[in-house]
Amino acid sequence: MRENIKDRIFLSPPHMGGNELKYIKDAFEENYIAPVGENLNKFEEAIKNYTGAKYALAVVSGTSAIHLALRILGIKDGDEVLASTFTFIGSINAILYEKAIPFFIDSDYESWNLDPNLLYQELSGRKKSDKKMPKALILTHIYGQSADIENITNICNEFGVYLIEDSAESLGATFNKKQSGTFGKAGIYSFNGNKIITTSGGGVLVSDDETLIKEAKFLSTQAKENHLHYEHKTYGYNYRMSNIVAGIGRGQMEILSDRIKRKREIFNLYKNYLNNEVEFMPELENSIGNRWLSAILFKDGALIDRVIKALERENIESRPLWKPMHLQPLFKDAKSLVNGVSEDLFGRGLCLPSGTSMSDDDVKMISEIINSNF
Ligand SMILES: Cc1ncc(COP(=O)(O)O)c(C=O)c1O
Repeated sequence: MRENIKDRIFLSPPHMGGNELKYIKDAFEENYIAPVGENLNKFEEAIKNYTGAKYALAVVSGTSAIHLALRILGIKDGDEVLASTFTFIGSINAILYEKAIPFFIDSDYESWNLDPNLLYQELSGRKKSDKKMPKALILTHIYGQSADIENITNICNEFGVYLIEDSAESLGATFNKKQSGTFGKAGIYSFNGNKIITTSGGGVLVSDDETLIKEAKFLSTQAKENHLHYEHKTYGYNYRMSNIVAGIGRGQMEILSDRIKRKREIFNLYKNYLNNEVEFMPELENSIGNRWLSAILFKDGALIDRVIKALERENIESRPLWKPMHLQPLFKDAKSLVNGVSEDLFGRGLCLPSGTSMSDDDVKMISEIINSNF
């Protein structure tokens, strides 16, 4: 029995590669225990090399990266920002920081991500009736699986809406061989403790727009003008990642491909072992997800509670899928365009343990517990 915390099987715990401590030690030896230094430079280089993004900025969280993007794109009080409803609140909070107004768009069953048809319907409808257009779309690639991103990018371009990709969960996922996070005006990745790779907490903003990343760096370091004394013409934030934390990221980037490979193996093992009444999160044609979390649907939503409790008795973590934003009390007055898909997913879906250090036998044992509850 796994009775204590050390034995607990978590959804997606950190899994170090080996060089992280060395890079942290290097920073100590150089006394670069600061938000500047070699680890930061190397971590940002690694992100650029891996994703193909031209510019990257490491910051304290994925949320702060989204906030910087919105601020730099000029989103302000009263502006509308479209967003995936089937997401985590971290996608949305920054809209509120800027006093802008979120408008939620539902998912489709093909991807579980934002439905491009609904997006087109909303934007073309507004244009026809000469209504105010939204300034931006924050599009989430949920659970590491790519949205229908080429279509969505084209729609945003057609209607002049900035696309910000929330790739917090989808580092390494591709669509037509192009990395998630690199389709829009800006993209973000999260390195929170539960992500496919982690810096314990952190985020990266990427863009092909050099000015955007330069401005983001300026704002992330308290908007200090280039003087010896402290001169400020606008307000900024203390959002820059530390060189210590970046050392973890530098080590983790070295093993990202291995982690994706293992996440995908775990997903396939569940597919082999689980009762064939279970439905699995799809993968769009031409896309390869990172399978950050293996996510399943039951035919009968009542199974969720039963399975969560059965797994919990064995000290195994599992979670319902994200509760859509338009159902959150915080957004009871927010506008949305919904089709029932995300509500259905939330009502029938479960995230399974997907840690890359789990053994094949662990996956088998978890599957047997689930199967015994049908
Ligand atoms: C979809 C999504 N968006 C945004 C975030 C926010 O990232 P962070 O926790 O690094 O602020 C997360 C994860 O935490 C997430 O899963």
